[in-house]
Amino acid sequence: MDHFSYQNGELFVEQTSAQSICDQFGSPAYVYSERTLTENYRTFESAFAGINPLICFSIKSCSNLSVLKHLVSLGSGMDVVSGGELFRALKAGVSTDKIVFAGVGKSHDELRYAIESGVYLFNIESEPELERLAALAEEAGRTVKAAIRINPDISDAGTHAKTSTGGRHTKFGVPLERARVLFCSDLYPFVDITGIHIHLGSPIPSTETYLRAIDRVEALIDEVESQGAKIELLNIGGGYPAAYHTDNTVPQSISSIGEQISERLQRLRNKGKTFIIEPGRSISANSGILLTSVEYVKQGWDREITILNAGMNILLRPTLYNADHVIWPASCQGFNGHWSELISAQTETQCTDIVGPICETGDYFALGRQMPPMQSGDLIAVFSCGAYSMSMASQYNSRVRPAEVMVSGNDCRLIRQRESYEDLISHEYGLM
Ligand code: LLP
Repeated sequence: MDHFSYQNGELFVEQTSAQSICDQFGSPAYVYSERTLTENYRTFESAFAGINPLICFSIKSCSNLSVLKHLVSLGSGMDVVSGGELFRALKAGVSTDKIVFAGVGKSHDELRYAIESGVYLFNIESEPELERLAALAEEAGRTVKAAIRINPDISDAGTHAKTSTGGRHTKFGVPLERARVLFCSDLYPFVDITGIHIHLGSPIPSTETYLRAIDRVEALIDEVESQGAKIELLNIGGGYPAAYHTDNTVPQSISSIGEQISERLQRLRNKGKTFIIEPGRSISANSGILLTSVEYVKQGWDREITILNAGMNILLRPTLYNADHVIWPASCQGFNGHWSELISAQTETQCTDIVGPICETGDYFALGRQMPPMQSGDLIAVFSCGAYSMSMASQYNSRVRPAEVMVSGNDCRLIRQRESYEDLISHEYGLM
């Protein structure tokens, strides 16, 4: 359960009212609950206690330094996918033996940076990448540790096509067949190829998908170890679900997902293997909301259209994946309770399209949504926006990115300033 709920009709983030946050910092703003982040992280620790994994938070889901620092203070490691994310992880103070580096397109510079920083593990996605890493490690005179990300040929992970990553037609990982050879290779003296990495997609609604992939990995480990290879660790990636809907339920709780996966991994644990998990949204999604204001309510030919001061440049998920976020006014007279119970609020509703100010038809948060009557100036909350929301925001239409605020109890702190018009042009030379 997260800590966004209504008290006497007003939305609160922990003990701080949403309206007071926007009075102080303006709208739109992303607002995070520190307590929710903490509880979500602790849930992972206990759910996966059976395999005691290194938990590497997937920075791409929510990359604000203050969020990262908080997770580091809880003991989290970091999953990074670029030089920029590695820079953030280091700035957040995570110890380098808790950083894993993934991604299909690591450049020379990024690999050099990661080698010099001494990251714990490289998740390798192809033979040419392995060769590049080997050459650079040799040049630096350092031996590095690598896991081969295998492509397990699982294309029915039950998630959106754009975020399914385990199928044979995707760009991810090394096909199982060819991965075998790499574990037994002695061509790379400066790379200790000691692990297997999988990441099947995001979010994965059924644990059965993980279990199927783990069975394939286990068979692979038995096979390559019988040929003399030594596999020390298994990184089972991220993709665990988050609560997005009004029933606030995930298809299966993190506790039961963790227990089932840990149970299936016991045989490998008994053989001394260690484990890594890379949760992103399941820690960050319901830790954040977007607060935005209504600019106009207009009548189209055949519909009402509610125009917000936040659009697809700030929250791209509805446009890109048809993502369905709960949207509701921050003021809802007479309602007391968690946002997931809004559906039972005795409120009169009407149908409206909820759109942003960007000049594209695809710029919407919801079409044909039943909402209470809204008017210009109303503060609106978009729930479960802590993951892949601010981290995917852009300045499209030369709109500034919003402020980010962290709430802890009744304390709220600005953790990223709203950008200014000067920020929009700060890297341009204006030459002609
Ligand atoms: N590990 C790897 C190698 C990944 O590629 C990802 C996510 C994760 C871990 C974390 O997955 P999570 O636990 O957050 O599901 N923008 C999309 C999601 C893209 C996910 C990319 N990779 C969205 O808004 O739904």
